[in-house]
Amino acid sequence: MKKILYVLALVAAVCACGKKKHAERHIATYLDLSAPIEERVEDALSRMTTEEKVKMLHAQSKFSSAGVERLGIPEVWCTDGPHGIRPEVLWDEWNQAGWTNDSCTAYPALTCLAASWDREMAELYGNCIGEEARYRKKDVLLGPGVNICRTPLNGRNFEYMGEDPFLAGEMVVPYVKGVQENGVAACVKHFAVNNQETKRHSTNSIVDDRTMYEIYLPAFKAAVQKGGAWAIMGSYNLYNGQYNCHNKKLLCDILKDEWGFDGVVISDWGGCRNDDEPITNGLDMEFGTWTNGLQGAASNGYDAYHMANPYLERIRDGRVGTTELDDKVRRILRLIFRTSMAPERHFGRFTCPEHYEAARKIAAEGTVLLKNDGVLPLENPGKILVVGENAIKKMVVGGGSSSLKTRYEVTPLEALQEEFGENVIYERGYVGSTETSYNNVSTGENLEETRSAEELIAAAVAAAEQADLIVFVGGLNKSKNQDNEGSDRLQLTLPYGQQEVIEALAATGKKIVAVNISGSPVAMPWADKVNALVQGWYGGTESGHGLADVLTGRVNPSGRLPFTIPCSLEDGPLKTERQYPGVIEEGKDKVQEYYDEGVFIGYRWYATQGIATQFPFGYGLSYTTFEISNLKATRSRVGRLGEFKVKLTVKNTGDRDGAEVVQVYVAPPESPVARPVRELKGFAKVYLKAGESRQISIPLSYQDLCYFDAEAHKWTAAPGEYTILAGDSSDHLPVSTTIKAV
Ligand code: BGC
Repeated sequence: MKKILYVLALVAAVCACGKKKHAERHIATYLDLSAPIEERVEDALSRMTTEEKVKMLHAQSKFSSAGVERLGIPEVWCTDGPHGIRPEVLWDEWNQAGWTNDSCTAYPALTCLAASWDREMAELYGNCIGEEARYRKKDVLLGPGVNICRTPLNGRNFEYMGEDPFLAGEMVVPYVKGVQENGVAACVKHFAVNNQETKRHSTNSIVDDRTMYEIYLPAFKAAVQKGGAWAIMGSYNLYNGQYNCHNKKLLCDILKDEWGFDGVVISDWGGCRNDDEPITNGLDMEFGTWTNGLQGAASNGYDAYHMANPYLERIRDGRVGTTELDDKVRRILRLIFRTSMAPERHFGRFTCPEHYEAARKIAAEGTVLLKNDGVLPLENPGKILVVGENAIKKMVVGGGSSSLKTRYEVTPLEALQEEFGENVIYERGYVGSTETSYNNVSTGENLEETRSAEELIAAAVAAAEQADLIVFVGGLNKSKNQDNEGSDRLQLTLPYGQQEVIEALAATGKKIVAVNISGSPVAMPWADKVNALVQGWYGGTESGHGLADVLTGRVNPSGRLPFTIPCSLEDGPLKTERQYPGVIEEGKDKVQEYYDEGVFIGYRWYATQGIATQFPFGYGLSYTTFEISNLKATRSRVGRLGEFKVKLTVKNTGDRDGAEVVQVYVAPPESPVARPVRELKGFAKVYLKAGESRQISIPLSYQDLCYFDAEAHKWTAAPGEYTILAGDSSDHLPVSTTIKAV
């Protein structure tokens, strides 16, 4: 009997086990969250028809692409980026859909983030915006942007991280990681040399390899290799004769082969231009080719996209095979398994107190104090006259695709009123732009003004009589020909007659604190007429609070310029039309633009030429003072692949707690190619209590000594002595040491 029972038990166990195995067999590998991603990708791919694969390659609405319903593979949903989560838009249109629950937290513009020179701020930024994307069920965040500020006139500088590839590369990495921790892909844009808005769809950027590798590629490379970005966006322009969204050299040779990028290349919206190149030249997903209301149209609906029916036809009639198709779909599946079908995914968070706090912190950390005769911080300022449109103009709306709908936006005037109550009076001073809406999102303000420029100035001057101090808040805005997508600025000087306003106010003899809000450098020939000067940015939801934190001294300023503020445009490296904005040449249908200045942009140009600037790259003051000393390089001879450390001491020599941004530059010896006199290769933001000092170390490597030898296609350093300089801006580097490269 016992034996029978034992046999029965065994049979039952075997059956149960068989059933379990059977059940397991029914969970397809691609749905098994515990299976390695590459196995899931191969399994899903093997189950898909060619038609299903092609459908995944292109948009099905303004911001989404199709999944495979039959297999339960979801759609991909994208959103701008890079400063907050764009409101929901109509299915086929740019205009907002009118939802009432999609007002986001707007974070400061990326120039502000870059100006913080603080990697932790970048991580915080990425993480918060990633959480908001997650909550809004978006899989791909269209940002951050890391195009280099080649000209102060570029309309989109405010969406990027300044003029230096090292700074941009260091700041983009934590941003990307922060976003992606939330199961949301960062889509780094716009790859590459998309450095102007003028004729962005038809400009052919002609750039030599050395300039590409030293200036325009490093931040993208860092985002891909160190940040592990899951997506990248091609740019509208052409590079060396081929459109960038299907540029073989950029996408196949550099991005995918050299850098080993395993993510998805997404076209900019409307950046895919023909049927054949996208197939072979590295584009994986096509968006925005036709613009409005065309979902059902036969000739220009989504099925007519270059990577839709035209691709399918080519496969069906044998003109192309399916190797490229499978590679593209593998990448898209990988993206889906990393995002919407990832094993660990949280719900996200949207417009919560923690996000507002982060936005405020970043806004304050990025604010740059450029001049101060002691009038700041505002401790007992008495009666304050605030003058200037940017004190009242809400800036989150406008500027192009980065325009947002935010829960609220605190203006500088509101924040100063919160701070000083009835001691604050206001005069507009000038009229800039009265625009208050974009893509059907409105700030709700009415900025109409009937007074003439003279009347506005007279009113401000009269009001100054009653004031102890004037705070002028001006600069640029996000309208056409300002900091704006689709158009460049027309001048470096302040627009709308603001200089006259500042001069009239200065003539009253009252103390003036000037705040310039912009995303690009503006000329400041009036700087000596004011007692303090602050560079603010488009600060997002908490804009005014971030600024007030610095003006009042609640936050000790520690922002540093992420670009040079030149004295004039003429001083800069772009001297000819062929350099900017490009020229029409006979027999060529595209604007030809030559990067003749090579690697000499920003401080690389000014420092090498010995041209004085208004404020140098890396510059910024604090309410305390610092001293940098004891610089040592821990190895004096650097072999081919050697790494070494720079050690130095930073001391807070003042009586307030604060942060110094220690910057390390390398000056090369005589080299076979012309090199900038110095280049940024390391930095650290160091928070120190009053009187505190600390030894810090900054890593450098052999690579930091190198230039890119285009002919040999490798990084190389001429043998000799390299000077390592440290200080607090590109122009003030009081301590130095040398190392030898062999
Ligand atoms: C911009 C991109 C943006 C896309 C989608 C394009 O016009 O260049 O930066 O992500 O639109 O809005």
